[in-house]
Amino acid sequence: MMSADFTSNFWNLYVIVLIVFGVGLCLFVLMTNNKRHTGPVEVQPHVWDETLAEYNNPLPRWWLYLFWATVIFSIVYLAIYPGLGNFQGFLNWSSVGQYEQEMAKAKQKYDTIYAKFRGQGIEALARNAEARAMGGRLFATYCAQCHGADAKGAPGFPNLTDNDWLWGGEPDTIVQTITNGRIGVMTPFDGVLSPTEVTDVANYVRSLSNLPNSAEAAQRGAMVFAANCVVCHGPDGRGQPLLGAPNLTDNIWLVSSSQAQIEKNVREGRNNRMPGFGDFLGEDKVRLLAAYVWGLSNK
Ligand code: HEC
Ligand code: HEC
Repeated sequence: MMSADFTSNFWNLYVIVLIVFGVGLCLFVLMTNNKRHTGPVEVQPHVWDETLAEYNNPLPRWWLYLFWATVIFSIVYLAIYPGLGNFQGFLNWSSVGQYEQEMAKAKQKYDTIYAKFRGQGIEALARNAEARAMGGRLFATYCAQCHGADAKGAPGFPNLTDNDWLWGGEPDTIVQTITNGRIGVMTPFDGVLSPTEVTDVANYVRSLSNLPNSAEAAQRGAMVFAANCVVCHGPDGRGQPLLGAPNLTDNIWLVSSSQAQIEKNVREGRNNRMPGFGDFLGEDKVRLLAAYVWGLSNK
C-alpha cells in the first residue's frame, strides 16, 4: 500500500513540477525579453565571417501579447480542467462524467418512447408498424454492416430473411442470439481425414442438396460423414441448433456450395462469431431488433 501510494504520488508530483516549471520558464522568457525599443538599435557584440553582425531587436509587441495570452490561457485552463497531476480542476469536469451525463439525458429522453413497447411479446411487436420501423432503423445502424441493409447476409454472414436458422428462429432464441452473441465452431479435419476422404465427404454433402456430384465418391463420403460429422450436423445432416451447426440438406449456404468451398470448410474448419449486443443496446432495443428479424421470416 505504502509503495503504491508513493509511486502514484511521485508521478503526480513529477507532472506538476514539469508543468509549473514549463509555465514558469515561459513567464521568465517573456519578462526578460520585455524591453521596449529606445534609441538606436544595438548591435550584438559577436561577429561571424569577419563582417556579419546581428542587431538586437526587441520582440514584436503583437507576438509578445500573443505569448502572454497563451500563458494566461494555460493557467486558467489548468485551474478549471484536469491537467495538473491529480488535481481535478475547479469545474470537476471529466470525460467519463460528461459521457455519463449525456447518456443519462438520452436515456431519460428515449425511455418514454421504448416504455410503451415493454411487456409486449416479440410476435406482437413484429406486427406493430411503429415497433417494426424502429427495429428496422436499429438494424440499419447496428447490424447492416454484417448482415446487409436488406438482411439477406453476405458470405459468412447468414441471411436473416429465409427462415433457415443456425441457432433457431423462435422469438426467444433470436433474443438470446442478439443479447449474448453466438460462436459457431467447426473443428478442422486437415490431418484427421485424408485428401480423398475430404473430397468424398464433400461429394456426399453436395448430394444432400441434390447438387451435381460423383455418386461413387458420395457413397464413400457417407461413411466419412457418419464417422466424423453427425455429432454436430446430425445423422441425416439436418443440423443441430444447439451448436449452430447448419442444416446441410437445404441448399442454403453460409459461403458457397462449390465443391472447393465445402472441402475448404472441412479441411480448415470454421470459426464464426456473432457479437452480443445486450450490454451495449439494452433489453428494449434488443427486443425491437428481435421482433424486426423475426418479422422478416414470419410475415
Ligand atoms: C460483426 C458482424 C456482425 C454484426 C455487427 C451482427 N451480426 Fe448477427 N451474425 C454474425 C455472424 C457471423 C453470424 C453467424 C454466427 C454463426 O456462424 O453461428 C450472425 C448470426 C446472427 C443471427 C443468427 C442467425 C441464425 O441463423 O440463427 C441473428 C438472429 C443475428 N445474427 C442478428 C443480428 C442482429 C439483430 C444484429 C444487430 C444488432 C447483428 N446480428 C449484428 C455477424 C454479425
Ligand atoms: C464440432 C461440430 C462440427 C463438426 C464435427 C462438423 N461440423 Fe460442419 N459445421 C459446424 C458448424 C458450427 C458450422 C457453421 C460454422 C459457421 O457458422 O460458420 C459448420 C459448417 C459446415 C459447413 C458449411 C455449411 C454452409 O452453410 O455453408 C459444411 C459444408 C460443413 N460444416 C460440413 C461438415 C462436414 C463434412 C463435417 C465432417 C467431416 C463437419 N462439418 C463436421 C460444426 C461442425
